[in-house]
Amino acid sequence: MSPSARILANEETLDPSYVPPRLVHRETELALLTKRFREALAKGIPYHCLVTGGVGSGKTALVRRLGADLERAGRLRDLPVRVTYVNCWRRASDRTVMLDLLRSVKVSLPDRGYSLSEMLDVFEQGIRRTPQHLVILLDEASALVKQETKLVYLLSRSHEVELGSISLVLVASEDLFPFLDAASRSSFGVTHRLALSPYDREALADILEERARIALRPGSVDRDVLEQIARIAAPNGDARFAIEILGGAAHAAEDVGADSVLAEHVRRAKGSLLPTMAESHLESLSVNQLGVLLALSRSLKRRGVAVPSQKLRANHAALVEELGAPPMSRTTFWRTLKELERDGLVTLDPGASGESSQVGMDELPASLLTTLLEERTGGARSRKA
Ligand SMILES: Nc1ncnc2c1ncn2[C@@H]1O[C@H](COP(=O)(O)OP(=O)(O)OP(=O)(O)O)[C@@H](O)[C@H]1O
Ligand SMILES: [Mg+2]
Repeated sequence: MSPSARILANEETLDPSYVPPRLVHRETELALLTKRFREALAKGIPYHCLVTGGVGSGKTALVRRLGADLERAGRLRDLPVRVTYVNCWRRASDRTVMLDLLRSVKVSLPDRGYSLSEMLDVFEQGIRRTPQHLVILLDEASALVKQETKLVYLLSRSHEVELGSISLVLVASEDLFPFLDAASRSSFGVTHRLALSPYDREALADILEERARIALRPGSVDRDVLEQIARIAAPNGDARFAIEILGGAAHAAEDVGADSVLAEHVRRAKGSLLPTMAESHLESLSVNQLGVLLALSRSLKRRGVAVPSQKLRANHAALVEELGAPPMSRTTFWRTLKELERDGLVTLDPGASGESSQVGMDELPASLLTTLLEERTGGARSRKA
């Protein structure tokens, strides 16, 4: 393939660590946090806050974006704002977090042999050397807070304990307020907490559209394919998963030399991202169900993300004939479709009035279904070209 044919024009922007310039559907939250910070800093006081939300709800992206914006424009009186980001997931103790904070003020201490209060002294000297207002972002802070941290209290009372000028942002997937000690709670009152709601299908599609614009060659993916991905990720409202599928689908498309990302590539990407789930589902499927899924998968290969149920039934009848199996009655066909919907393997969306419902599937590529059906029916059928 020539380099100009690549779909993944800027693949690095699909990486989870990439912070996009715009956070669609989080503009309100970003504006609110920016306003609260600016107001506090203008009064010469720090601002602390606790940001919570589910997996992939954009917490990390939001606070990093906020941090970068504040660093560029924020000041506390005549102090410049400097931002330090620490992911506490693997550093769930005050001392290990402290080592990172020391590094951020350009002091390095050996890993062992210093108590927390000695480290804090050195930290204070570091801050004093380069006067600044420090905004500390503690991401994935659950374990740290639950281990009865003293650091959170000390950082949130930096003025009283003469540590320097510090704002503290705690980020976690759950509400940490109940786990804070009484003294720290006073720093995290209602106007110091922000809970992010999960993204819905529409929001995920918009996020994907924005990311596709940055990461992929223009015109290489249609909105309906992005909506298909959004539908897959919507049950958890997880933007990371959605972006991961987009990347996987773009790779799948490039692998087969396609010049755009299609529904079939999305199914393939999703299949490889969640193979265990698909496998456990597959073992329990009946031959009837596999037949309907295969007809669906073939119809979608031709038609895109969804197919009217009448059209699917016609394609299924043709498949059954091809296999030399007895025809399936209308009620059995519908019951099978409903069973598949209940198992979460197909989606049934009501069609426009007077039209049959739209059947979609995000789970399984046709090639896999064909193999499975052949195995199950003892490889008896000879495949037509
Ligand atoms: N509103 C948005 N606009 C654009 N991209 C977004 C948005 N929200 C999230 N993302 C992207 O989705 C991915 C996941 O977001 P992020 O890492 O911020 O989630 P999180 O809430 O921190 O998840 P976790 O709980 O797993 O840490 C990232 O690649 C991020 O850039
Ligand atoms: Mg995160």
